[in-house]
Amino acid sequence: MNQDELKALVGQAALAYVQPGAIVGVGTGSTVNKFIDALATLKNTIKGAVSSSKASTARLKALGIEVFDSNDVPELSVYIDGADEIDRQGHMIKGGGAALTREKIVAAQSKQFVCIADASKLVDILGAFPLPVEVIPMASARIIRQFQAMGAQAGIRLQDGQALVTDNGQYIVDVRGLKIANPLAFEMQISQWPGVVTVGVFAIQKAQVCLLGTEAGVQTLRF
Ligand code: 5RP
Repeated sequence: MNQDELKALVGQAALAYVQPGAIVGVGTGSTVNKFIDALATLKNTIKGAVSSSKASTARLKALGIEVFDSNDVPELSVYIDGADEIDRQGHMIKGGGAALTREKIVAAQSKQFVCIADASKLVDILGAFPLPVEVIPMASARIIRQFQAMGAQAGIRLQDGQALVTDNGQYIVDVRGLKIANPLAFEMQISQWPGVVTVGVFAIQKAQVCLLGTEAGVQTLRF
């Protein structure tokens, strides 16, 4: 199976976590797109979704799934999202699709985070994937210098030669060369830097379950 087929496999498997009548928390990315397509087959049995990005909202609506404002839904039973990396404790790096802030918000209002990922995303230690950090533009140069002082390389993410602007009107700084041995302490430290909107380490909002797409089928990891 290629990577795309593994993503479709776990997208389909995630339907087992969707309860009848539920409002489902929906992440962002190519793996989640497979989940959204599968979710459309249940659209008459669920109430709808809370979405973590404009892109996922557009896809959900195009398939006839109602999208609720997160402010109108106090709690979600489940949040289904992909990851750029996940370790063996359920900590993740997320934000490759620049949606990390809304992803963390929807994850925080959900009782359970189910991560769907192909096997290439499972790592022993987070940091080989460039860590996305959403920042207020006026703080970006200072935040880059702070990461450089930690021995990392950091730069503003570009799109068509310009700084990429997130759904929230902010920038993404991508940080290379980190080895994140203690994700929880790292997330708490970086979250306190002035101008950091969201760091793409998900340790506070870690996954409780990972549906991992492997050659042998879907492997369920519980944390
Ligand atoms: C988007 C994300 C995605 O979950 C992450 O980038 C994985 O994406 P994909 O499923 O396309 O590999 O965090 O901000």
